Amino acid sequence: MKLRLKTQVISILKVLQEKDGDCLASDLARELNIDYIVLMSAINDLKDHELADFKEQDVDQISMNEEGVNYIKNQLPERQILTYLAKKNIKEISLEELKKQLKSLDDKIFYVGINNMKKNRWISTSNATGENTLFVITETFPPDTELEKFLKTFKKKEIRDFSQLSKEEIIQFNLLNKRKLMKREKKTRRVLFLTEKGKRIDILKIEELKQVSKITTEMISSGTWKDYEFKPFDVTKPGPLLKGGKIHPVVYLINEIREIFISLGFTEIRGPIIESAFFNFDALFQPQDHPAREMHDTFYLKNPKMAKLPKKDRVKAVKDTHENGGESGSLGWGYEWDEQIAKRTLLRTHTTATTIRRLAQFYENNEVPPIKVFSIDRVFRNEKLDKSHLAEFTQIEGIVIGENVSLCDLKGIITEFYKKMGFQKVITRPGFFPYTEPSMEISVYYDKLGSWLEMGGSGIFRPEVTYPWGIKNPMRVLAWGLGLERLAMLKFRRNDIRDLYINPIKWLRQESY
Ligand code: PHE
Repeated sequence: MKLRLKTQVISILKVLQEKDGDCLASDLARELNIDYIVLMSAINDLKDHELADFKEQDVDQISMNEEGVNYIKNQLPERQILTYLAKKNIKEISLEELKKQLKSLDDKIFYVGINNMKKNRWISTSNATGENTLFVITETFPPDTELEKFLKTFKKKEIRDFSQLSKEEIIQFNLLNKRKLMKREKKTRRVLFLTEKGKRIDILKIEELKQVSKITTEMISSGTWKDYEFKPFDVTKPGPLLKGGKIHPVVYLINEIREIFISLGFTEIRGPIIESAFFNFDALFQPQDHPAREMHDTFYLKNPKMAKLPKKDRVKAVKDTHENGGESGSLGWGYEWDEQIAKRTLLRTHTTATTIRRLAQFYENNEVPPIKVFSIDRVFRNEKLDKSHLAEFTQIEGIVIGENVSLCDLKGIITEFYKKMGFQKVITRPGFFPYTEPSMEISVYYDKLGSWLEMGGSGIFRPEVTYPWGIKNPMRVLAWGLGLERLAMLKFRRNDIRDLYINPIKWLRQESY
């Protein structure tokens, strides 16, 4: 059967044959002045007939930003100033005077220019005369610096590939980048090429196919609709991207975790974000001079400054464990416990504060074990923000109050949880927390990276923590606190933790729920 193709597809095939080699889809679209999507749909037609194909390449594109482009046209400020001095035949001038004469230059740009002139050894400055004076120490029109040469390469080629830069050029790139004149973007580009068949085929032998996807009233009234072929619907092609509202991926993940704990028989609890040091630290047997309490880790509150403490006898029970171990059988820390410090308000640094409140409730209501509760909630620490740290993040916390529950049970719950989340391998290692003994650190194996990633801590609450709430041997409390954002980063393949909360719209649209 004779090959039939749409007119536009034939003309694109012809251009590709004339080019006789690979070409970039974006360049070709620009050259032919057609829409990129139209071009790619034509290429797909050619692909269906094994005439052409494309491959995808990741490129690291660099180009000048708006200010940079301006300097390509008008020269860098240091060159602008030097040219001015040369034209006026000025060899020596006070900075102030020069600035006055160059009123049109923005103050900031003027000083950037002066600094770079110094760096280029075109001028020197001196205060010897009592006034900051500039001396030209270069020939009148020095040749282009390496930086200027590099800048000018963008005249001919607006976009360059970072990976193609020489070592010397990378140095210049970094300098311009530091001056905030460059744009750098990672992109995928498509390289088009003809197959052997496509190279050989005789264009004149291809029949033009008049194809339409819509019939107009004109076509019907004139009867020309009979001359057209109707474009078939390809039901296998993905439809247009829907941009409707949807649940945020992190919220989706939280719901998934919630479902898992509920399916394991746990009940959700929540506690206050503004906590007392009492529940955040003291009830966890953290001594009052513990470094984690310091200002650099904990956000203390000015208003309200003090929190209410639980009933006097419970406060005393906690005080006693700190001072002499109380009923727990421990010797305590042996210092004088200060109720005022325990009353300080803060943004909770961990949701363990919330599970301790649950122990208090257990005591208050005279409850009986087993109790299994979890919480997924926000905590706060005074951290510098970067790729892997946030000052507010989320913990997946839980406790089991039970008789004779053991480390094996704890390991079982955590392993089961991660299994349900899709992580088959969980490793526990000895760890340390002031409130658990023994303590375990939890890591999961991430096969896409081939490495273990730390997820959080766990352990059995020490008697010093449980006795004030009437939880005594053989009753024990298993506890864990795991990071949510780490898990989210693995699940959503993000390597910057901040992405989870700054809402990059492109990613949110792609994430499929
Ligand atoms: N609170 C600990 C943290 O924030 C985690 C933890 C919770 C450890 C419960 C042991 C028991 O890192």
